[in-house]
Amino acid sequence: MSQLMASLEVALGERSYPIYIGRHLLDDGQRLRAHIPSSQVMVITNEVVAPLYLERLEKALAGLDVAAVVLPDGEQYKDLDTLNRIYDALLERRFDRGCTLAALGGGVVGDMTGFAAATYQRGVHFIQVPTTLLAQVDSSVGGKTGVNHPLGKNMIGAFYQPRAVFIDIDTLGTLPDRELSAGLAEVIKYGLIDDPEFFAWLEENMEALRRREPAALAHAIERSCADKARVVAEDEREAGRRALLNLGHTFGHAIETGMGYGEWLHGEAVGAGMCMAARFSHRLGWLDAEAVARIESLVAAAGLPTRPPPLAAERFEALMAVDKKVQQGQLRLVLLRGIGQAVVTAQFPQEQLRLFLEAEAGG
Ligand SMILES: NC(=O)c1ccc[n+]([C@@H]2O[C@H](COP(=O)([O-])OP(=O)(O)OC[C@H]3O[C@@H](n4cnc5c(N)ncnc54)[C@H](O)[C@@H]3O)[C@@H](O)[C@H]2O)c1
Ligand SMILES: [Zn+2]
Repeated sequence: MSQLMASLEVALGERSYPIYIGRHLLDDGQRLRAHIPSSQVMVITNEVVAPLYLERLEKALAGLDVAAVVLPDGEQYKDLDTLNRIYDALLERRFDRGCTLAALGGGVVGDMTGFAAATYQRGVHFIQVPTTLLAQVDSSVGGKTGVNHPLGKNMIGAFYQPRAVFIDIDTLGTLPDRELSAGLAEVIKYGLIDDPEFFAWLEENMEALRRREPAALAHAIERSCADKARVVAEDEREAGRRALLNLGHTFGHAIETGMGYGEWLHGEAVGAGMCMAARFSHRLGWLDAEAVARIESLVAAAGLPTRPPPLAAERFEALMAVDKKVQQGQLRLVLLRGIGQAVVTAQFPQEQLRLFLEAEAGG
């Protein structure tokens, strides 16, 4: 029996959609079907997730015309070649313009499925069934979809919202510890941006989350989705406020790229990146030492690094500058004026950044 623990809505006018959070939602055929307007359903998943959950989802959808595409696992396959396999399967099976795609997996599967749904026959229905913590609190909500290009991450994509998001927290039971911690980085991020009460809750409940206690997980996921949904509803296409969601990410992307993809998980780099944003804010006199210490200890308690790897300051700076948050040659950063008070700004002395990076990364 499935158990619904929470539900919320992403408010985007006629493109609004529900997010369901609960246990065994993967088996809840009735709820799933209520958001699938077609008989043709293509489940997109990967070779790690398929043996764990594909059969259950197919069973829940029994009676519909269900097919599946099992992609290779990994960020290195989030590309146009692999995307083509989805189009191949849809065309071979003669799926029409009314069909539905279902993303079953982490953020890689979700981003690719969403982009396939945005582009196949100029747009078909799609639902998200995220199975990593990162996907449950971040990538499955908000409608950013896409693939990587050899010259840049997420460079080919579209804004395209799903019809519903089904978060089955029991799927986290098989997630490796390291991936769980990576997802917690994004959870902490929401507290830091504009939800100090949630940040304090996380300080109390981090151990329960790492033990995967269902009630704690459900609460953290609900609060994260609500925080993200609010920002997305205000600024769907990142004209302004949505950029706050990049807290820790400009530093983080520099770490990810500088170390080579796969060395550091995205969430690990974001964990260290948020601590860097905090320490830089402190250096600018915007954030007190006590707040920095609280941030560092919460990130550490999540099982994440608080310090960047050794990278020369010059290289770090160059990597930060290629991040797509640079506008008109000015590097904009998300910095902190307090816990729960993030700001997007280019108003800082750029030479301070260089000095900071020299102190941080030992370059
Ligand atoms: N669209 C957005 O707004 C957005 C936001 C953040 C991140 N992203 C994207 O998300 C991707 C990262 O997502 P991710 O961290 O979920 O990585 P991922 O999809 O690669 O999943 C991590 C690993 O966990 C495995 N896995 C998935 N579910 C599992 C389960 N229940 N049990 C065991 N193993 C499982 C996957 O096969 C993979 O090996 C990146 O490509 C990033 O660009 C998108
Ligand atoms: Zn992220």
